[in-house]
Amino acid sequence: MRFRDFAVLAAVFVIITGILAGCAKQSDTILIGEYNAFQGPIADFGKTTHNGIALAIEEINNAGGLLGKKVELKSEDDRGDMSEARTAVEKLITRDRVVAVLGEVASSNTLAAAPVAQTNKVPMITPSSTNPKVTSAGEYIFRVCFTDDFQGAVVATFAAGHLEAKRAAIFRDVRSDYSKGLADAFKKTFAKKGGAVVIDSTYSQGDPEFKSQLTSIKSTNPDLVFIPGYYTEVSLIAAQARQLGIRAPLIGGDGWDSPSLLPSAGGALEGCYFSNHFTPLQENPAVVRFVQAYERKYNTSPNALAALGYDAAWILAEAIKKAGSTDGDAIRQAVAETRDYPGVTGQISIDSNRNASKPAVVVQIKGDKFVPVASITPEDVK
Ligand code: PHE
Repeated sequence: MRFRDFAVLAAVFVIITGILAGCAKQSDTILIGEYNAFQGPIADFGKTTHNGIALAIEEINNAGGLLGKKVELKSEDDRGDMSEARTAVEKLITRDRVVAVLGEVASSNTLAAAPVAQTNKVPMITPSSTNPKVTSAGEYIFRVCFTDDFQGAVVATFAAGHLEAKRAAIFRDVRSDYSKGLADAFKKTFAKKGGAVVIDSTYSQGDPEFKSQLTSIKSTNPDLVFIPGYYTEVSLIAAQARQLGIRAPLIGGDGWDSPSLLPSAGGALEGCYFSNHFTPLQENPAVVRFVQAYERKYNTSPNALAALGYDAAWILAEAIKKAGSTDGDAIRQAVAETRDYPGVTGQISIDSNRNASKPAVVVQIKGDKFVPVASITPEDVK
């Protein structure tokens, strides 16, 4: 053999052993993917969700891992952008070969990325995307939270019942599937409960200035203003609404839940309400244990996103255990069979549309606390 041929053969040998070693290394762990926003205007969503997921993975590994292997989490930052969300999931699936994907929080981002998971037959569980269309992407796409058909009905039921509101203003974000879905669901139930929507006004995510729409809203003299948006705009809208003299309560959905909401609103949201998935103030022993473990690890209390991330990761782990395999179809089937899982965000059963049906809590903002004032079940809004 000439030296050149020998060198080529040796190089091929090195490459093949490298690939084999890579495979062997990969199969020592079970790789789960996560895509979320860790930068940008909804970064709080990604960061807190990640904390909940990471705590669950730590507990799963401390309890011996899955199928005799350690679980590893591979996280991709999509900056809260729809096309980056899609690319992130493509990378996780084709480059990293993850066995399943957790994420996103914002419905528009999950809607953009879900078809990638569906086409590649990789199960995806969104902890917190509530837009009804999300799980219609196919049989590989699941959620562990309620949908906005329910959440919108919860807010409307609370507004008409508890707050005795008759005239509601809506201020929705036209760039968010979440916001539009929630606004429409609210409208439907509020009318059923005898209320009237006196104005349905719009803004766009990223806008800094809302005074012209708020002036029109003020002129309708509503009993409350429903703002189904995300915390970044909501805190600006609240501050500008109070500056213009709107004194009616502002009311929202889960998108308000962020540690940044109150610091940026400067008192403008005092006494206001929003619906949510979870509060750390519940006395259920599983919740108490979770809150303690979370506070020990992160020195702060978990919010709904952390709790949903935690439940999503544990439900996926239980499904992999039950499937006894990391095969996409086997995991998908096991997730679909989840019944009465005792989550920290409530009992979780996955229904035939791959959604979870659970009660919602309505909280009131008092000082720096979100105080639970009502728990509303799917039965209550019928
Ligand atoms: N439900 C929101 C959406 O679908 C996301 C969200 C969930 C935000 C929970 C905060 C808390 O876009």
